[in-house]
Amino acid sequence: MQAVCKTEDIGEESAREFMVGEQSVIVVKFDGQFHAYLNWCPHLGIELNFIPDQFMDDDGRFLVCANHGALFEPENGACLSGPCSGDSLTAVPLDVRDGEIWVGNAEATA
Ligand code: FES
Repeated sequence: MQAVCKTEDIGEESAREFMVGEQSVIVVKFDGQFHAYLNWCPHLGIELNFIPDQFMDDDGRFLVCANHGALFEPENGACLSGPCSGDSLTAVPLDVRDGEIWVGNAEATA
């Protein structure tokens, strides 16, 4: 695993992206908890965002894919609506140690 940032670097209901090895990983804080997913949309296998660190919808409730508008639950990565509905983001191991966020590697699914 590698340290990517401090916990205070990610605000409530916001997300940031980090390179972990060769992988772009989204770290999202929602409801006081941190979660990490590959920045890889299950619809077409491309990154979710066009703008750096722009992943949340306007209400700060869902992660959104900028390509075709799929919405994902921040808590578990499940796609609730959009072309990949029923599919989900690939979870990435995450650990909080001494105020730092550590992220591991996940196997890409494609
Ligand atoms: S690539 Fe994400 S919804 Fe189409």
